[in-house]
Amino acid sequence: MQKTKIAPSLLAADFGNLQRDVEMVNNSAADWHHIDVMDGIFVPNISYGMPVIKAIAEHATKPLDVHLMIVDPDRYIKTFADLGANILSVHYEACTHLHRTLQAIKAEGMKAGVALNPHTNINLLEDTIKDIDVVCMMSVNPGFGGQSFIENTYDKVKALKTLINKKGAHTLIEMDGGVTSKNAKALVAAGADVLVAGSFVFKSADPTKTIRELKEVVA
Ligand code: DX5
Ligand code: ZN
Repeated sequence: MQKTKIAPSLLAADFGNLQRDVEMVNNSAADWHHIDVMDGIFVPNISYGMPVIKAIAEHATKPLDVHLMIVDPDRYIKTFADLGANILSVHYEACTHLHRTLQAIKAEGMKAGVALNPHTNINLLEDTIKDIDVVCMMSVNPGFGGQSFIENTYDKVKALKTLINKKGAHTLIEMDGGVTSKNAKALVAAGADVLVAGSFVFKSADPTKTIRELKEVVA
């Protein structure tokens, strides 16, 4: 079995010291840089846009895992490919033609991800799961860092893992929202492959150490 990946969310970084925080992730046990893009429409918050992501990409040495919380994401697929995104996740709830969107992401050379809001049933992915490289399972309502983990998510992860196995898909399950060293082990036991952690990493006294601890909890 593949080792669990850790993807620190830069949403919780110190934006005044973004280069320092990106380099901290580079030099840590983390696997991906998780980058949250919010448009103020799909979610109530606005995070950061292209110039900031360009700056992150210039310093990042690990894959860029971009999570789009925006309406009509098809408009920006090429833009994010050009910025250097390696994994591009769109929200199920924001896509009218999800299958087409997934193909467009792959055509740009990126891994295709689908994010699911807490209310969205995993069975809605039954007909696309084989086309999805990563399911970003929201364990909080998207839009803000630092929220508490929704407990119902464990059942969703188990059901999604069953669907992935039933269909013979190779999709990774990524957990996003309220992940800490307290719930990490149970999430991996339920079927999670990637753990996103924002506040837990960046608000800790020693983020490098926290990433290593998170990795050790799930090793
Ligand atoms: C929430 C974002 C998350 C967020 C996670 O909308 O998608 O990636 O940064 O933050 P924490 O780990 O603080 O819940
Ligand atoms: Zn995210």
